[in-house]
Amino acid sequence: MSEADAQHSKGMSAADLSASLGLKPAGPAMVSTLKKPVFFVGFMGAGKTSVSRKLARSLGLTVLDMDSYIERQQDKKVAQIFAEAGEEGFRAIETETLRELAGREPMLIGCGGGVVLAEENRRILKESGVVVFLNVTAQEARKRISDLSTRPLFNDVEEAQKRNEDRLPLYLEVADITVSTAGKGVNVIAREVRKALEQEGVLCVRQK
Ligand code: S3P
Repeated sequence: MSEADAQHSKGMSAADLSASLGLKPAGPAMVSTLKKPVFFVGFMGAGKTSVSRKLARSLGLTVLDMDSYIERQQDKKVAQIFAEAGEEGFRAIETETLRELAGREPMLIGCGGGVVLAEENRRILKESGVVVFLNVTAQEARKRISDLSTRPLFNDVEEAQKRNEDRLPLYLEVADITVSTAGKGVNVIAREVRKALEQEGVLCVRQK
């Protein structure tokens, strides 16, 4: 922008400024609303956190990652909770957290990969929200996880493959929308999820 333009633009809104410079606004001014909470489930490394964050950013929605929330509440990393309280201890916190988040204003929620294990969790997911299952193979998931020490239940690909296969019926049981993530990047997956959520009538996006 030239100095003259800068002087001229003082006190203008971003939209007025863009219009005065003959520029299109950076993105359409949109208002997005969610009718229900949207839960992202799927194996570790499926992209639940990145896809939900991407969607939240592009649609102006609130997003929360359950594991990060638990870590903040407990002031401990997930791996430390597993080490101190065992998987059972972690699962109890996970259920309590899921119940709490399901009752909040609808938002995008990235769940931990094992959230579907407890029947109570599956009931909460099905009754209170829309569930997006991001399907991934253990091989692909391994490539996406840079630091395995953060995932106490992902030790090697063979074991992960078995765990993923065992969980598949549970992911499918709760899923309203299933997206295969094989060979796709975050943007492509996020676009597919957005379209499916609009088709389900749970996401409404309109121009301001
Ligand atoms: C787990 C997945 C992890 C985390 C914990 C257990 C699992 O979350 O909740 O390590 O049992 O699959 P991500 O799926 O976000 O890695």
